[in-house]
Parts: sequence; C-alpha cells; structure tokens
Amino acid sequence: MCGIVGYIGTQPAASEILLAGLQKLEYRGYDSAGIATISEGELHCIRAKGKLHNLQEKVASWNRPASLGIGHTRWATHGKPEEYNAHPHRDTSERLAVVQNGIIENYRELREQLRHHGHTFRSDTDTEVIPHLIADGLPRIQAEGLQAHHPSPLLEAVRQAVCQLQGAFAIAVISADFPDELIVARQQAPLVLGFGQGEFFCASDTPALIPYTRAILPLDNGEIARLTPTGVEVFSFEGNRVRKTPRTLNWNPVMVEKQGFKHFMLKEIYEQPGVVRTCLEQYLNGDWQPGMADSPIHLGLPTDFYNNLEQVQIVACGTSWHAGLVGKYLLEQVAGLPTTVNYASEFRYAPTPLRPNTLTIGVTQSGETADTLAALEMEGTRHSEGAPPPRLLGITNRPESSLSRLVPQIIDTHAGIEIGVAATKTFVAQLVAFYLLALDLAYTRQTLTPEQLHTLIEGLRQLPAELELILESQERYVETLAHDFVDTQDFIFLGRGINFPIALEGALKLKEISYIHAEGYPAGEMKHGPIALLDAKVPVVAIAMPGTVFEKVLSNAQEAKARDALLIGVTPMDEQEAAETFDALLPVPHVDELLSPLLTVVPLQLLAYHIAAHRGLDVDQPRNLAKSVTVE
Ligand code: M6R
Repeated sequence: MCGIVGYIGTQPAASEILLAGLQKLEYRGYDSAGIATISEGELHCIRAKGKLHNLQEKVASWNRPASLGIGHTRWATHGKPEEYNAHPHRDTSERLAVVQNGIIENYRELREQLRHHGHTFRSDTDTEVIPHLIADGLPRIQAEGLQAHHPSPLLEAVRQAVCQLQGAFAIAVISADFPDELIVARQQAPLVLGFGQGEFFCASDTPALIPYTRAILPLDNGEIARLTPTGVEVFSFEGNRVRKTPRTLNWNPVMVEKQGFKHFMLKEIYEQPGVVRTCLEQYLNGDWQPGMADSPIHLGLPTDFYNNLEQVQIVACGTSWHAGLVGKYLLEQVAGLPTTVNYASEFRYAPTPLRPNTLTIGVTQSGETADTLAALEMEGTRHSEGAPPPRLLGITNRPESSLSRLVPQIIDTHAGIEIGVAATKTFVAQLVAFYLLALDLAYTRQTLTPEQLHTLIEGLRQLPAELELILESQERYVETLAHDFVDTQDFIFLGRGINFPIALEGALKLKEISYIHAEGYPAGEMKHGPIALLDAKVPVVAIAMPGTVFEKVLSNAQEAKARDALLIGVTPMDEQEAAETFDALLPVPHVDELLSPLLTVVPLQLLAYHIAAHRGLDVDQPRNLAKSVTVE
C-alpha cells in the first residue's frame, strides 16, 4: 500500500524521474500523489488528490530543475483521500519533507508531545509526526556537533526519530538544509535502493527503478541509508554500519508495459500459458519415466526437507488463500498430508497449537503482504522445547521480495511481476507450484504409483496448449456474453471439491473489478441457505468438471434452475448432459478433474474482466484496492 520513490544525482530532472517512478508504483495506491524537490536552497512540494495524472498536470505547469526529490502515491489509511492528507508531509518550517508507506501506530502520543513543543499539524495522517519528530531533534544534534559515528546530522536525526516510531513503515526524507542527502529507512515495509551512474534511487518496488538501473539493493528491517550523489551508506537503527552489496535484477523494462493490450489484467491473462510452461520447464525433469530412481520434480529443497513430515499449514490472503485451498486438496488427496489453510490475518493472532513436524507454507504474489509475513515470522519463532526447528516455505513470483529474506526456502513460480491489481497469472502460477509440491511429496511418500505420477505429469505438460485453446476460442464469446451482465447486481459461483476454491476465486475477481456483489459457494451447501437468494435476476455460474462430483454439481445447478436462475456452466466442450443443463457455456478442454482448476479459472477471469470493461471501470486499478497490502 502506498508507493514511495526518491532520487538524488546530477541530472536536474528529479521531478520527471519521480513522476515516472510513481506511474510504475500507482498500482500500490491511487488516492492522491505528491512530490517534493529541492532547488536553489528551497523545498518545493506539489500534491494532488486522486490519480497521478492530476499531479502530472500540476507539475507540468510548475516545474523547477532539481537533482533531489521524493514522491508518493497514496492508499489512504489515516485521513480521507484529500490533498491536505497527501504526502509528502512537512515540518513546521516547511524545509523538511517525508514520504511514508506503512502505519505509525503511536502517532497520537507523538503528536501530542510534539504539539507541546510548538509543532503545528496540518493533516489527519499518522505520517505527519515524522517530519516534525526529525525537525524536533535536529537542532540538538547539530548543537552537539558531529561525532565520529554520525556521518551527518540529518541521518542522525532520522535515525533517532525512527527509533521512536512503532509500527510498520518505509520512509524517505529530504531537507532544504541538507541539499546533498536523501535519507531512507525501513521497518516491516518494502524499500529497494537503485544504483545508477552518479545517481541513486529508492522505491517501494523495483518497477520504478528498472528504466534507470538493474543494480538494486533491498533494505532489511531496521536499516537506514544515506544516499548522496557520490554513494550510499547503510546503517542499522542502532547506528552501526552495515556492509551490503547490490545485486543485478534479471528483468527487462518491457515486462512492465501493456504491450498493445488494453489493460494489464488482459495481458496477464494471456501470459498464463507461457507462465505455466516456464514454471514446468523449470522444475520438471523432462526425461523422467516410471521406474527411474529420482523424483520427476526438482524444487531445489534440501534433501531432508520432507523427513518425518506429518502435516502442513498454509497461510495466505485473498487470491493466494484460494490457491492455498487448492493446495490443501492436493496435499491431502494426492500426498496424504493433513493440511490447514489459514487467513494470515487471523492466524497471526490465533495460531493453531504447535505440532511437531509441521511444514508452514506462506503464499504471496507480492512477497510483501504484511499479514502473511507476520504470520510466517511468528511461525519462525514459535518452537516447542526439544522439537526440531520450524520448517518454512514460501511460494511467490517475487523471489527478491521480503518473503525470501524471511523464509529459508522459496518456490519461485517464475510468473514475473503482475501489475493488474486483480491477480490472474500469479494465481495460476501458485497453483502450478502446489501441483509440483504435492507430486514431489507423493513421489517421496509413495502415495501415488509411478504410473499415476507419470499420467498427471503428462497432463500438466498439456496445460499450456489447453490454456492457449481457451484463450483463442473463448475471448470473443465471453466478451459478447459479458454484455448481458453489465447491469446485474448479484452473482453466485458454485463449485465442489477441487473446484470449490475456483468458485471463490471467480467471485472475488468479479467483485474486485466490476463492483458486482458475488458469492462463491460449495455447490452442495446452496440448499442450506443461499438458495433463498436466487431468482431470475441472479445468474449462477457452476463449475462442472467430470470426476468425483460432476453429477452432484449438475444436480445442484438444476436446483438453481428450478428457482429461475440463469445458469452458466464451466464444463468440457463435449459434455452433452452439461450442455443441456446450462443456459450458457464457458467450455474448457476435457482434463483430469485433479488438473482442472488450472483451466476452469480462466473463463471466470475473462468473464470478470469483460463485465468490468463493459461497465467502463478502471480494471487495473479498482477503487479502494492496492496490489501490495503492506499494512495490517
Ligand atoms: O500479494 P499477496 O498474494 O499476498 O496478496 C494477497 C491479496 O491481497 C491478493 O490476493 C488480493 O486479494 C488480490 N487483489 C486478488 O486479486
């Protein structure tokens, strides 16, 4: 939530660089935006309510050359999305400015103290205490004089200020009195530094940096850095110097462009066959045949990782939690491992009692979700006496994120960065990771025969082509069908077994981007209550794939039809009985039921996308949402 960016260098183009960076970070929040720059010894701050283009227009009519500045795009937490609450926030003298991503939990106490010291507040935000706190300490630090371990008074004032802050935050600070310094700090919120030629950057996420550099350095919790036109120094919050080396990001700037698609979401839906192909190529042994000694899957986990494993617990939020539900089905039904799936936000305050030999899996596309990271951090420290150390695994497409610094083992899904706020390709990639994990465990635990394993792996290999077929054959049709639902107010999505989480995911996609009320339900549970909602105005989407619950889902669909609901079926192209049951079909290729979620989700993504697009909504940046939820 919220995106911050900073620039210091020799180019007098700070405003342009900051605005370009904010554009790449707008997915993190878009309630307001602002920049502050320093030129000719003065601090200049421009802010605007609403989306970034409002700020761009203001900056265009008032631009000053500057080589130092900070910027922010906001997802409102404390205070309405108004210009007076937009960042950057300044101290009383208006010579020092701060941008923040996160929440300062003790801001009320700090604000009272600072008011008694004569500071004047102009916003409702938690962030505004930070510039006042820094400004409050600066005169004393300057009067004390520089000590050997204080490279600069501004750095020391920021360091002392952050030590008083409680909560999760990443900040960037500039001052007109220190025109050659950009100070940044991180505590439980992402912050990455970028190294250019005689110029340095900071940002909440790497897309803002890659047009300028691929040499990046993620800060860790409790670190503060001083950026000058000649270099970067990193310290701990205790003031000790930290030696860190930048690494090179293996990315290409085109990955964060729309490449001719109307929206990032549609582009990302179309990337799914390639994402599945890449992930399978990465982890499957291409020559594997039943009878071979090794596992067909190589996830790069330590050899003893599965030893004595008795159960799995998954922590995640939103769409990643839905992926976890599919994971549970696979781990239990394929690998025979009892598995729980927990909302990370609930788990962190009410964890399952400790059980030995448990694998905890955190699933997150951003690798930055505060609740998921906190739940994993807690599991890393919860440890009963005499028991083996906790086993933690992360599943993400962002191996450079905070997640990978928190858990020792990662399955990189190779989906790359996702820009559309509604997760699509990252979800499918998380599913692939769970298939690979469950099959690898099934091989190790011998819960499947080599022949069964081989059949499923061959099925997985067919998926990219099957996904391409769905996209080629369906998109136009779904686009037309979507017209019928532009004014619909409620939708129900039904699924059973391994496709129940896909019903939840279909409903979430529709809610998020079209603002239509939608509920996902296990088809067999309809009759226990929600069936009362049905009438001719409530379409029902049912996922009916041949297998253990096919006939049951068709019966449940009939029950809805008897209440006049319009029935849409996600079902194989050649299923006569299904074709006769449903009023409209979203056909998918015939696949093993166990693999079907990887296909059935795609027509639901397309349906949500086209309904939202027909409604003229901002598909990539839906209201009130942010791509990366770094607050509780
Ligand atoms: O980055 P994460 O996967 O941890 O994010 C979790 C949720 O915030 C996320 O899935 C959210 O529900 C998406 N907007 C879904 O499209």
